[in-house]
Amino acid sequence: MLDVLPHADAKRTPMEAPAHHRRRLVLFLLFTVSPLLLAQEQLDYPSANLSTRWVNNPSQIQHNGSFDDGSQVRSILLRRNPRFYGPTYACGFYCNAACDAFLFAIFAVYANSGGIITNPTTAPPQVVWSANRAAPVGANATLHLTDLGDLVLAHANGTVVWSTGTASKSVAGMNISQSGNLVLFDQSGAPVWQSFEHPTDTLVLGQTLQEGQNLDANVSITNWSKGPVHLTVLSDGLYAFTASSPPQNYYQYTLNGNKSAKTPSYVKYTNGSLDLFTLFATPGTPDIRISLPPASSSVQFMRFESDGHLRIFEWNQGWQVTADVLGLDVCAYPMVCGQYGICFNGQCSCPAGGSASSSYFKPVDGRRISLGCSLVTPLSCQSLQDHRLLTVDDVSYFTFRYSGAAAFENIDEASCKQACLKNCSCKAALFQYGGNVSNGYCFLPTQLFSLQNNQPSLTHFNSSAYIKVEAASTASNNSIVPSSPSENKGSSRVGLIIGIIVGIVAFVLGGLRLMYVRRRRRTTEVEEDDFPIVPGIPTRFSFHHLKEATNNFSKKLGQGGFGSVFEGSIGDQKVAVKRLDGVGQGKREFLAEVETIGSIHHINLVKLIGFCADKSNRLLVYEYMSNGSLDKWIFSKDQNHTLDWQTICKIITDIGKGLSYIHEECRQRIAHLDIKPQNILLDDKFNAKVSDFGLAKLIDRDQEQIMTRMRGTRGYLAPEWLTSVITEKVDVYSFGVVVVEIVCGRKNLDYSQPEESIHLISLLQETIKMNKLEEIFSHDIDMKLHLEDAIKMIKLAVWCLQVDSSKRPSMSTVVKVLQGAATIETDLDYDIVTTAHLMRKQRDNYLLDASSTPSASLLSGPR
Ligand SMILES: *[C@@H]1O[C@H](CO)[C@@H](O)[C@H](O)[C@H]1NC(C)=O
Ligand SMILES: *[C@@H]1O[C@H](CO)[C@@H](O)[C@H](O)[C@H]1NC(C)=O
Ligand SMILES: *[C@@H]1O[C@H](CO)[C@@H](O)[C@H](O)[C@H]1NC(C)=O
Ligand SMILES: *[C@@H]1O[C@H](CO)[C@@H](O)[C@H](O)[C@H]1NC(C)=O
Ligand SMILES: *[C@@H]1O[C@H](CO)[C@@H](O)[C@H](O)[C@H]1NC(C)=O
Ligand SMILES: *[C@@H]1O[C@H](CO)[C@@H](O)[C@H](O)[C@H]1NC(C)=O
Ligand SMILES: *[C@@H]1O[C@H](CO)[C@@H](O)[C@H](O)[C@H]1NC(C)=O
Ligand SMILES: *[C@@H]1O[C@H](CO)[C@@H](O)[C@H](O)[C@H]1NC(C)=O
Ligand SMILES: *[C@@H]1O[C@H](CO)[C@@H](O)[C@H](O)[C@H]1NC(C)=O
Ligand SMILES: *[C@@H]1O[C@H](CO)[C@@H](O)[C@H](O)[C@H]1NC(C)=O
Ligand SMILES: *[C@@H]1O[C@H](CO)[C@@H](O)[C@H](O)[C@H]1NC(C)=O
Repeated sequence: MLDVLPHADAKRTPMEAPAHHRRRLVLFLLFTVSPLLLAQEQLDYPSANLSTRWVNNPSQIQHNGSFDDGSQVRSILLRRNPRFYGPTYACGFYCNAACDAFLFAIFAVYANSGGIITNPTTAPPQVVWSANRAAPVGANATLHLTDLGDLVLAHANGTVVWSTGTASKSVAGMNISQSGNLVLFDQSGAPVWQSFEHPTDTLVLGQTLQEGQNLDANVSITNWSKGPVHLTVLSDGLYAFTASSPPQNYYQYTLNGNKSAKTPSYVKYTNGSLDLFTLFATPGTPDIRISLPPASSSVQFMRFESDGHLRIFEWNQGWQVTADVLGLDVCAYPMVCGQYGICFNGQCSCPAGGSASSSYFKPVDGRRISLGCSLVTPLSCQSLQDHRLLTVDDVSYFTFRYSGAAAFENIDEASCKQACLKNCSCKAALFQYGGNVSNGYCFLPTQLFSLQNNQPSLTHFNSSAYIKVEAASTASNNSIVPSSPSENKGSSRVGLIIGIIVGIVAFVLGGLRLMYVRRRRRTTEVEEDDFPIVPGIPTRFSFHHLKEATNNFSKKLGQGGFGSVFEGSIGDQKVAVKRLDGVGQGKREFLAEVETIGSIHHINLVKLIGFCADKSNRLLVYEYMSNGSLDKWIFSKDQNHTLDWQTICKIITDIGKGLSYIHEECRQRIAHLDIKPQNILLDDKFNAKVSDFGLAKLIDRDQEQIMTRMRGTRGYLAPEWLTSVITEKVDVYSFGVVVVEIVCGRKNLDYSQPEESIHLISLLQETIKMNKLEEIFSHDIDMKLHLEDAIKMIKLAVWCLQVDSSKRPSMSTVVKVLQGAATIETDLDYDIVTTAHLMRKQRDNYLLDASSTPSASLLSGPR
């Protein structure tokens, strides 16, 4: 404690007046003698009395600060950090850039022990609330806490811009709290008006967002009006929408259940989580908890930004992003590539049809493709007959996940297109289908935001966009669909191919820049020195070393949402090097993975040989697994890729042993949370090893359960994810799904199947009830020889799939059963299909699975 003041002195800036300096020297001496005396010295100014007027003029406001990024603050209230110096909240006038427009705002700034706003280079003010975002004021504007208790902001000429409307509500004074709440209170100290009840684009710790309230992102750093997206709480959960008319939904986190309380829904931002209380919640207990990094002892806030991300900021020698809360795939944000843009692995391009010379689109800004594209010939409602649909195959659209009112189900492609051509406000027909092209989804947006690449082989659905363009009457073009209804569905792939070529070119020209900017932005997150040195981690490699080891990343083994996997060799050992993309939630996954598997070693867990954390580069080096991932073997129709029954049993036992080890034998219990065939790797002798701890969660030994945001992969998620009471038993459930998949030789969710058999677990439940179990076994396995064993295996799986997680066996029990040392529970509940029933809009959720899995699924392993 004693070094507090000298420390602050070292950070002194020219901004501090000599008088303060003297006072602080004296203080320093006093402090050294008796810390108690310090408490009496009032260096901050957290409250104000009635009849106080402030003029927005540096000569009239004593506390001011100018920052290297061009912003300035003139502070009227400030409450010092309880540690005497550090980040803290203040309110007053704020401006940036040209500084000719000001907000009356609450901002986080850095104040030293004398209550002086400082650190102009590393601590630009962070606005967390503002009164007049749509109507900034100029120099000499006034803020007046009137004798009647109204707080009034007015232009210099006296025109009122904003007020709290609290005259005659017995306001006695004004006060800013430690957590950044500006309060007008009455004689008894009770709040009459508080900024917490009027959120803008940010929540600070302790603040709530009530049902019907919005966080509205701003337009840009200098235009603070309500921008392109908003986040809101509705009665059943948290939603994010575009600001188009009608709004398009790109994120929702909801729960279905029985109404148990009449209280309005809300979310509360607390230290460590974002708690969602919906109409289904038991009062006092959140029904969804999104876990967040805990706040250090200083200031943390979450800001909803104009790119549609909800980010957590925290002070750590500077303002840093510590989490991206919505956590969608990078291409799933509506703004990622602007209007009409196409996002492919984070890179943007414009739709192209036919030949490039007759292209209908041009980038809004040739140097920044991510700003989107515009039509060369704008659409006009006067010339409906000239409207055509430009085909772009293999792209999907974010809002399909949560198709709102403007979406149609059970419609065929031609009708979908016609519906768009007939309606002038429709800008595109978006069509998506699973197995049956005459039974799909159709969405007709009035504004087309970013499209994203869709790979049917991964997502198991087809998705195309037919974008409305206006044809010059002479233009004729292959990939243009004329408006005639008789046109058959010869959707050409040319559009996509050109799209990809343009994408690559755009990447080289503009994308590099974008990536550079992104990398730069993330670099601040991963400082070399804040990397924990975990005991047991063998080697930390330099980026240069791994570049050489992989021959400049030339042989790619696989690709996933968090990065790509390359073959390499270190010394004479063959290795798999996973290079994480600098986007999305990279850092958290990276730390989790390094910490988790760096310190554990087991024959059935993929071994982490080393890692690299050079600047923004993050790589993981694993042992090489020559037979790739399990999905390749069990879902393959290729005869050379089938496994015999003995191998199947060995693989299942190996997975069981790996899981049993992390659940029960490690110093810290670990839940993997993403068990699926893609994350099981096979070595040359078909030893199975569990890989990819990117989503893993540590559980303290004395902790009963863990709270975490939903993660993992749909199709493998245990039902208790919906109640957020998560234990390692979710892995037992996923293991059960994997066993069923292995024995049946197909995926749990398979959209190439007829509607009624898409969901394997439902099918299993039915066949068990009808006593026809043998019908769903894989034909590859010689079931005559192994029928009894296979039935036993399915029973074990059903035990693991029990809806009540406490009825599921532990993984060590599973291993014992597999080794013949224990028997299967006989009192099993065969009603195992619940997740689907609990899930709201069942089918949409399956689609959500399909469209979001590429990010979470194909991770580490060589394949
Ligand atoms: C407000 O008024 C009280 C008493 O009337 C006084 O003690 C206090 O210093 C005043 N506060 C400010 C910030 O002027
Ligand atoms: C702060 O205000 C004083 C006058 O009160 C002025 O001399 C000084 O330049 C101002 N500082 C900044 C950074 O605007
Ligand atoms: C603000 O007021 C001061 C005097 O009170 C005056 O000198 C200055 O010109 C005014 N500034 C503007 C922009 O009106
Ligand atoms: C007062 O000033 C503001 C901003 O400069 C301006 O928009 C408004 O029209 C002015 N009002 C009057 C009555 O002059
Ligand atoms: C001012 O704020 C503090 C801290 O938030 C609070 O405890 C106090 O009651 C407030 N003062 C009054 C007079 O309401
Ligand atoms: C800010 O953005 C809004 C909405 O896009 C726009 O209407 C307004 O003109 C912009 N204001 C300025 C000052 O550019
Ligand atoms: C809702 O209540 C009904 C009747 O009490 C019950 O059968 C049903 O399982 C409940 N649903 C949920 C999701 O709790
Ligand atoms: C948040 O919680 C962590 C522990 O989980 C604690 O160390 C930290 O001080 C807390 N931060 C705040 C601002 O309360
Ligand atoms: C506007 O939003 C941007 C990010 O979207 C943020 O950096 C900036 O601080 C915001 N400005 C204000 C005044 O809230
Ligand atoms: C055209 O589409 C818009 C937006 O989807 C819808 O509101 C409107 O009712 C449609 N008009 C007709 C004639 O169908
Ligand atoms: C495809 O869907 C249509 C319309 O729902 C239905 O009539 C047809 O039988 C389906 N075809 C197949 C092969 O399922």
